[in-house]
Amino acid sequence: MNKRIAILTGGGDCPGLNAVIRGVVKSATLRGWDVVGIEDGFEGFLHAEKCRPLTWDDVRGILPRGGTILGTSNRGNPFAFPIVREGKVEVVDVTEEILSRIACLDIDGLIVVGGDGSLKIALELMGRGIPIVGVPKTIDNDLMETDVTFGYNTAVETATDALDKLHSTAESHHRVMVLEVMGRYAGWIALESGIAGGADVILIPEIPYDIEAICESLRVRKRRGSRFSLVVAAEGAFPRGGGRIVRHAGTAGTLERLGGVGELIAHEIGSRLDVETRVTVLGHLQRGGSPSTFDRCLGSRFGVKAVEMVERGEFGHMACLRGTKILSVSIEEAVRAPHLVDPDGDMVRHAESLGIMLGR
Ligand code: F6P
Repeated sequence: MNKRIAILTGGGDCPGLNAVIRGVVKSATLRGWDVVGIEDGFEGFLHAEKCRPLTWDDVRGILPRGGTILGTSNRGNPFAFPIVREGKVEVVDVTEEILSRIACLDIDGLIVVGGDGSLKIALELMGRGIPIVGVPKTIDNDLMETDVTFGYNTAVETATDALDKLHSTAESHHRVMVLEVMGRYAGWIALESGIAGGADVILIPEIPYDIEAICESLRVRKRRGSRFSLVVAAEGAFPRGGGRIVRHAGTAGTLERLGGVGELIAHEIGSRLDVETRVTVLGHLQRGGSPSTFDRCLGSRFGVKAVEMVERGEFGHMACLRGTKILSVSIEEAVRAPHLVDPDGDMVRHAESLGIMLGR
């Protein structure tokens, strides 16, 4: 029987979103189904004109494009939705409006492409009777139950490329170059790009750092003849006994924004050692650009899988990667806790065996 499905992309954008949208539209269209694209995340349900048909023509040529053709938002939580009333921001519950729009659209399934935040909203909407299938997205790679999220690989490539470029200035000027990368409370981007980019120090939120131990490792490097060093710091990294640097506190419906630890570390190193330091904050460059081959392929396969899951009625589940297989797991399990780097795990051990200082 022909079905009608909807798809939305929620939370921060990341490379590979368009590959998922294309995968969904192509495999659904080949089944004879109709697809409705919801613009700007869950918020799109509040506006009829933001719920539009998506056809084969709409997804032509989008595979190499970064971002999402549907738009996204990380302020669109229907249960805590910010609106401006008489010049003041108020947080209201718009779930009923969203549920009635979904009823009007007469869909057999909604595909939510999102990270932890969007998938938690999806679970709540499931509880209100909406048949939802999830697709795990985030450059932070902090979702459980999947080997990796799409978008992460491209972000790591970007961070590694930045380290390669910083290497030349570090070497030429005999400086300590600090690169601050994203990842929120998880250190995956810092750890993997740090190993790949030949970092001397990698600081991740999962291992609170000891600044004196870091400086001592840099002194040892100098005594051994290395006149420069590369430090990668995850934005969520923080000193032992201290707290992480929050640039903007979160409000109802928005998350806190991290950033600034790179500057702090460079300052601490510069004041303890006789060395020049410089900081680069990679920021949203990690979220942009054309997706890597890996993310194009993973995103496309996730899109196809999500359509298969709607067909089989596997609602409340999310597509995931296990080894080389694309499987389906419960969304509840995936968002139960963040997927963090294990401080005693293989990846950290291997980094330390390479002589990289992990801040401890
Ligand atoms: O979750 C993805 C992410 O890029 C984090 O790594 C980062 O902390 C955050 O989003 C930045 O969010 P925004 O785009 O709202 O500044």
